[in-house]
Amino acid sequence: MFNDLNEDQTEPNKCVQVCQHRSCRKQGAVAVLAAFQNLPVPEVEILASGCLGQCGNGPMVLVLPDMIWYSRVLPEEVAVVVKKHLLDGQIVTQMLYHRFHGQK
Ligand code: FES
Repeated sequence: MFNDLNEDQTEPNKCVQVCQHRSCRKQGAVAVLAAFQNLPVPEVEILASGCLGQCGNGPMVLVLPDMIWYSRVLPEEVAVVVKKHLLDGQIVTQMLYHRFHGQK
């Protein structure tokens, strides 16, 4: 039978992975990671990740456990992700990675 996996469990903490591998770094991922680190959110971990397998679409940002991918993220867009997604729980649709989230 199906069990509610969240039963008697707290929600897993959010985690933002910012790819720091070669292609994303060339596209500015170091500054994107720094921008997230400059806007800390309680209970949200910011991690430098290895290649997320989407090279050429970076800087790639993956928000877990939501499995929301943002592509070509600019440092100046990070504040929007922090405010809207991490604090208000709303996806920033205009920044979504089309390959995984389709295009609207
Ligand atoms: S280098 Fe960032 S996804 Fe591969």
